[in-house]
Amino acid sequence: EATVTVRLTLNGIPVTVGVSPNAILLDVLREQLGLTGPKKGCDHGQCGACTVHVDGRAMNACLRLAVMCEGQAIITIEGLAGAGHLHPVQQAFLDHDAFQCGYCSPGQIMSAVALLEDRRIAGDVATVREAMSGNLCRCGAYQNILAAIQDARL
Ligand code: FES
Repeated sequence: EATVTVRLTLNGIPVTVGVSPNAILLDVLREQLGLTGPKKGCDHGQCGACTVHVDGRAMNACLRLAVMCEGQAIITIEGLAGAGHLHPVQQAFLDHDAFQCGYCSPGQIMSAVALLEDRRIAGDVATVREAMSGNLCRCGAYQNILAAIQDARL
């Protein structure tokens, strides 16, 4: 099968990767680029476990063809923390015990960061709930997730 060369920026680093034309971004990240932070939950856009940022917007990596990412900037959970310190949203999730099994956490955190970076969005509970509605937590840690997001300061 033919391989397509895709150039993108991954967590701030330029990357060139050869992918099959129908390769899904989530699979390329996990299996070719070694970034297993984005999780495969449902693999069809319903759980949010695979959420990454594409040019600053939160997206389900399981719904995106890798070839569509040519020239784009992708950020995964691996790219959030600074040198020697967690991202404020990661720290807030820790402080609020905003997880149980942790499988959904990378996606939850990436969605929360995108939400908080969007200054147009007010931080009221209803808005946060709506913005986070694409991220499911089967453990039901929603109260603590909500508390963490409301408490996080970028
Ligand atoms: Fe992508 Fe569930 S794995 S939304």
